[in-house]
Amino acid sequence: MQKHPLCQQPFADNRLTLKKSEFTYLRKEEIHLRAWVVVKSPGIPFPVGVFRADDTHFFASYLECTHQGCEVEPEGSYLQCPCHGSEYDNQGKVQHGPAEADLKTFAVETDTDNIYILLK
Ligand code: FES
Repeated sequence: MQKHPLCQQPFADNRLTLKKSEFTYLRKEEIHLRAWVVVKSPGIPFPVGVFRADDTHFFASYLECTHQGCEVEPEGSYLQCPCHGSEYDNQGKVQHGPAEADLKTFAVETDTDNIYILLK
């Protein structure tokens, strides 16, 4: 099992669609929840990190570090840049530099089964 599953999703109508079930996994015959799913889509240079706060609240951040453009990675409940150590919270707000600006974020809508990441 990957730590943060990478979903390949095409996008349509300027939104990415992700199933809520991507946040669940089975271990020892029990259903567990993961905090992050990383979504990659053709035509979008960096992945989008989706954080699950609860079943109706999700936050989507573009994983391009605002310092010098490395790919930021989920680490526990926050995001960390492997290049120079900048940290962002699970909503993309910078917590520790050298980055000074927040990550780009996207509005998120949900219904019973899906999460919609609005790219524009
Ligand atoms: S590129 Fe991310 S901290 Fe420098």
